[in-house]
Amino acid sequence: MKLVTRMGAVVLVLFTIGAFISPVRSLDNGLALKPTMGWLHWERFMCNVDCYTDPNNCISENLYMQMADVMVTEGWKEAGYEYVCIDDCWPSHQRDAKGRLQADPKRFPRGIKKLADYVHSKGLKLGIYADLGTLTCGGFPGSLGYYDIDAQTFADWGVDLLKFDGCYMKWTLLGEGYTNMSIALNQTGRSILYSCEWPLYEWSYHQPDYAAIRKACNHWRNYADVYDSWDSVKTILDWTADHQDVIVPAAGPGGWNDPDMLVIGNFGLSHAQQESQMALWAIMAAPLLMSNDLRDICPRSKQLLQNTRIIAISQDPLGRQGYRTAKVDSFEVWERPLSGGRLALAVMNKQEMGGPRGFPLTLATLPSWKICHPQCNVTQVLPSYNELGVQTLLSKLVVVVNPSGTALLTVTPI
Ligand code: GLA
Repeated sequence: MKLVTRMGAVVLVLFTIGAFISPVRSLDNGLALKPTMGWLHWERFMCNVDCYTDPNNCISENLYMQMADVMVTEGWKEAGYEYVCIDDCWPSHQRDAKGRLQADPKRFPRGIKKLADYVHSKGLKLGIYADLGTLTCGGFPGSLGYYDIDAQTFADWGVDLLKFDGCYMKWTLLGEGYTNMSIALNQTGRSILYSCEWPLYEWSYHQPDYAAIRKACNHWRNYADVYDSWDSVKTILDWTADHQDVIVPAAGPGGWNDPDMLVIGNFGLSHAQQESQMALWAIMAAPLLMSNDLRDICPRSKQLLQNTRIIAISQDPLGRQGYRTAKVDSFEVWERPLSGGRLALAVMNKQEMGGPRGFPLTLATLPSWKICHPQCNVTQVLPSYNELGVQTLLSKLVVVVNPSGTALLTVTPI
């Protein structure tokens, strides 16, 4: 449904809340009832296999052990980050004599099972990466023809999550491949969270079948890889909003849209932009998989990633994904329905010039402001915590938003 109202500029209300109620059946493995939280190596450490000249940053067992250590000692685990995930470039180029994948023996001398034991001893979970085609995107052995063996190997090692990529595979076979691996994982009897890239590889050809995807996967990448830049984050947000009518209804406990990793704490985003990524990933009910160096992270980024109020929005038990409701005057408004009839609101300032700008919270800019009738309680979560108190439809509340930053609020009806 499209509604057009005015407030100096045009407000585009993209659709009604009602469209999002009853998501289709999810993968029945009891996992990902809330968006997954953890750490994934790819964006920050990529395919660095050079442990000779770069031992601290290469893809090796040390990297994951150190991340697991820091996750416990620096409050990440307590904040809810649970999965330590290996991405591409971990295996040896050869399978073993029984056809099983094996870790590169130089970089993982103790093997993945020992690494899983270590991660478990810290109260955390281990994720691993494979690909449904003939090769992984980085050119390591793919799983085509080996789904049962690989699923069983991961289960035997004690792996808790599989990111299954879709490189080097005929696109018409994606559905069959992702579904078969889902079945193979279930048949191992071990609870293994299943992270797919099925729709990403299908969108170039046709609109994916999200009911089928949700039945097979616990989350699924829809769009291009994230990079350490505001441009990349903006493009992902634009794609998500442009396709929200199709993808938002598919999300709910057990299965989530995955807009890719959080790059907060790296090099490419200003602090305001990091706040935007954190706020919008919470609004989108996205997995919160950080790809950064937790051993060396700026305190402000750490505080943002560990902000309990934002994490509470991300992990809200209602499990509804938010969506963009308006584009007005170079602002974007996103909202997410929360449990208890509450609402999370994100107001992003897309004008990358000038200074902070005010955005009035009124019915004209924000049709869902009607939840403030007769009264509501408004709390600002970002850029800083601020109790804005009891408001009504007649209130003249203005939130100030930094360029490329986001004001994140919760609204509780009274
Ligand atoms: C693809 C995926 C990325 C990453 C790389 C690894 O590009 O989308 O997230 O896993 O492969 O090669």
